[in-house]
Amino acid sequence: MKIENALVVGSGQMGGGIAQVLSTFGIQATVYDKDKAALDKAKVVIAGSLDKLVEKGKITDQNKKDALGLLSFTDQLPKKIEQNLVVEAIVENMDIKKSLFSMLSGIASENTILATNTSSLSVTQIAGVVKNPERVIGMHFMNPVPLMGLIEIIRALQTSDETYTSVVELTKKLGKTPITALKDYPGFIVNRILIPMMNEAFYVLMEGIASAEDIDEAMRLGTNQPMGPLKLADYVGLDTCLFICVCFHRELGEDKYRPCPLLRKYVEAGWYGKKSGRGVYLY
Ligand code: CAA
Ligand code: NAD
Repeated sequence: MKIENALVVGSGQMGGGIAQVLSTFGIQATVYDKDKAALDKAKVVIAGSLDKLVEKGKITDQNKKDALGLLSFTDQLPKKIEQNLVVEAIVENMDIKKSLFSMLSGIASENTILATNTSSLSVTQIAGVVKNPERVIGMHFMNPVPLMGLIEIIRALQTSDETYTSVVELTKKLGKTPITALKDYPGFIVNRILIPMMNEAFYVLMEGIASAEDIDEAMRLGTNQPMGPLKLADYVGLDTCLFICVCFHRELGEDKYRPCPLLRKYVEAGWYGKKSGRGVYLY
């Protein structure tokens, strides 16, 4: 199926970026969030990001205007979803995602593809609450969406070949490379490897082996990562990092996935990273 229009659910860091990229590539995108303030913030962030891309010569001023013309925002979930695609990018919590998908299943037209941007959770379990679960798939965008070249594709046990092919084609249309996780296991490919490294960086900080700045600088200069793991954790959101660590520990069951107590403390303090103004660093 050719995707011409989409509903993005969640207008946080990921939902905003996903809607921006869809509209930049000619797809009409409506963004729904239950929080009006989040929608207002997304509008500002998207406009700023498009300006930056124009400034850098990555897109033209006309591309920016066209993209903005294809975007709309709402704090009301429509009664009927006619779009070809829904991309869910809400909080990383299975119960909340399942309740949303069960609702979407009741209002989306039968062949609307229902994609989740989950970072770690079972796409198969999410598909389990949906009528026609063969149209559910994991479409894992990377942050910041407009700049990152990968979309990980995760097939639920129920995902049909038709759904999979449509999403792979869309990924290429968006100028990104699709890489498919062959099994729907927690964290898929990227986060299964990346998040334990970030969690370990919190242990190194907690144990006093080095300052946050030195941990990040050591990893940046010593392994050529564009930003250190603690700064990256702040960008991802420490709440999201902790949700993912908890999922790994619960689902994979090994001690090596134990969330670092210091990460837990920061989240308990409301230090969620860049999005809340304070995480490991101040913003
Ligand atoms: N839109 C447009 N421009 C943006 C932007 C956005 N969303 N975000 C940043 N930029 C701009 C910056 O403002 C900067 O502009 P200036 O040069 O004018 O200051 C420019 O892009 C380049 O940024 P930087 O010079 O700071 O750094 P960079 O060239 O290294 O690129 C980066 C920035 C691409 C974010 C890079 O630091 C990077 O790759 N970081 C790691 C990102 C990463 O690993 N993401 C994956 C996270 S894990 C994940 O997403 C999965 C999950 O489920 C948790
Ligand atoms: P975020 O906290 O920035 O935004 C989440 C948004 O979802 C908020 O605006 C919130 O109001 C909204 N929301 C929550 N429950 C809702 C509901 N029931 N209905 C409508 N809106 C609702 O989070 P984020 O960083 O954008 O992450 C969103 C999803 O994307 C998570 O599943 C996360 O694991 C995944 N993800 C995150 C990253 C990252 O680097 N942050 C990368 C890839 C994937």
